[in-house]
Order: sequence, then structure tokens, then C-alpha cells
Amino acid sequence: MTQHYITVSGCGGYSADSTESLLEAGLRAGFGFPSACRNGNCLRCQGSLLAGSVTLRNGRTIQAGEAAAAQVLYCVAHAQEPCEINVPDITAPGQLPVIEAACQITDITPLNHDVSRVILKLPAGKAVQWYAGQYLELLLPQGPSAFSIANARSGDGRDLELHVRHTADNPSSLEVMQHLRDNPVVRTRLPGGERWISDTLPDGPVWFICGSTGFAPAKAMIEHLLTRRFPHAIYLYWGARTEADIYLPELAEAWASAGQVHYVPVLSDTADTRYRTGLVHEAALADMTDPAGAECHVGGSPVMAWAVFDALLAAGVPAANIHSDVFDYAPRQ
Ligand code: FES
Repeated sequence: MTQHYITVSGCGGYSADSTESLLEAGLRAGFGFPSACRNGNCLRCQGSLLAGSVTLRNGRTIQAGEAAAAQVLYCVAHAQEPCEINVPDITAPGQLPVIEAACQITDITPLNHDVSRVILKLPAGKAVQWYAGQYLELLLPQGPSAFSIANARSGDGRDLELHVRHTADNPSSLEVMQHLRDNPVVRTRLPGGERWISDTLPDGPVWFICGSTGFAPAKAMIEHLLTRRFPHAIYLYWGARTEADIYLPELAEAWASAGQVHYVPVLSDTADTRYRTGLVHEAALADMTDPAGAECHVGGSPVMAWAVFDALLAAGVPAANIHSDVFDYAPRQ
């Protein structure tokens, strides 16, 4: 039995032996390989062969570069050598399909002086999966705009909560808010981002270090952890300039009162407060007794998230343990 490595364009790869179809081997490796009939009839698994050669169940061999290589049915194709394939809608292990959907805007509620909660509803029957910690994009006339999803998936999974900060010093944020107020429906693309907490829960304490609306993905992940009765400690350090900028204090305080979350608000622009003062990540690091074992999720602006990344790394938190959706939608240049 000869093993061949199959490269899937944009999605990594897997090993297949010549006795199994590329579809079977891909499914076994965890790829979301589109399929239905698995006998060459439905065309769901069809894709192109970019390199290498395959032999079909009927004995015909197809080489990359010939006309037939544009439409290979992978449920009946066996690799004869290392191959590269491209299959529409295939997803890598752990990756969720990205969809576009027109969502109803069902509610807009101010949470404080510059943050509003926006509730979107996905169309009925439009199944969408996402993990707590991922983001969506609003597809607006002025271009896509990314927002963390602020709720864990629950019920029929159609409700999506966003926390939108809109301030005069950020004109594009005002445009986004105005668009949401003026339209009953908004187009979205989701999910995005590769920093999440799925059903495979972390095996130790989790730290959430966030600034302003960076609380949104933290809220989604904390809701998910609490629903799953996460057995380890959850730390929430929420930074803001002033007390008025902490826009859902009652929720975080309720988690803390119930003994579910160690909640520490940290204010940077005032000394006259009952809260901790200074920079939020410095407060978290001052309290973190085991940086090497800490699993950290950072939420905030790209500038803040990357600064916290550097500080955590310098303090001994392994880079692989530092997560933020910012790292995906605003990679460091
Ligand atoms: S799964 Fe139906 S044609 Fe391949």
C-alpha cells in the first residue's frame, strides 16, 4: 500500500493510500469534503487536479494539465502520486464553512455613551456554525467591517450580538452605526477568525484581557465556558479609560458574584475610582502566578492587542497560548 500526500489548495493536506478514494482519505483526515452519493453521480465532490495524477474507479488515468483534470470526481479517484487538488467549499479540519447571509437587524440598544448592542437575526433555515471567539464581517457599501460576535451560539443559532463603538473621532464608526440604524437588513459574511473556544475546552485556567469592546469576544467565550460547566478558573480583566466606558458592568459583576469568574475592571485615565488603575494587561500580569501555563485571549483594538501580545510574551506566556481574533483580521505588518 503506497501513501501519497495530497495538498488541498489553501487548506493544508493529508495522506491517502492508493486503495482508497481521495474523498474517503480526506474525510478520514477531518476535511469537510463536499459529498453525497460517493459513487460518482451527484458531482458534489468535483474539483480540479492541479498537480499529479489519479486513476478513476473505471481504470481511466487523469493527469494534471489535461482537460479532464478540471472536473475530477474525488469519490472515485485514487492517487497515483503526490497530488494537489482544488475543491470548491472544502474546509480544513476544524474549519467552519464561511457563508454570506442577509441578516435582519432586530434590535439596537445603547449600552453606554458610545457603545450600542446590535442584534442580527440570520435567515430561517440558513444553518451557520461558528465558535465562540470568532468574528463576522458586515458587508457595507463602504466596504467590509469586522466585528466580534458577542454571544455564544445557542437555541437555533440565528441570533448574533455585536457591540458597536461609535465615536466622533472615528467617522467610519459613525457611518457603520448610521447604516445599521437606516436599514432593516444588512449583509454579513461569517464566521471569520481562527482563535476560538470550541467544544474541546482548554485544560487549565483561561485569562481574558480586553479593552473597551474587546469585551465582546470574551463575553461569547465566557458564556460558552459557563454553559459547558468549565471546571477551571476564568479570569476577566476589562480595561477602559473611565468607569463610564465599562458598558456591561452588571453582567461581569453577576458572573463574579456567582463565583464563576474572577472579574477585575482596570481604569487607565482616572485615579478616583473603586476599580484597579493602570494598564489592563499590567494588572493581569501582576496577578498571574503561572504565565507559562496561562491560556490568554486578548480583545481590543489591533494596536492594543499586539501590544498585549508583546507584553505577555515577554512575561513568559507561550506565543501559542496567546489568542485574539485581531491577529487574523489585522495581522501585524
Ligand atoms: S460524492 Fe457524489 S459524485 Fe462524488
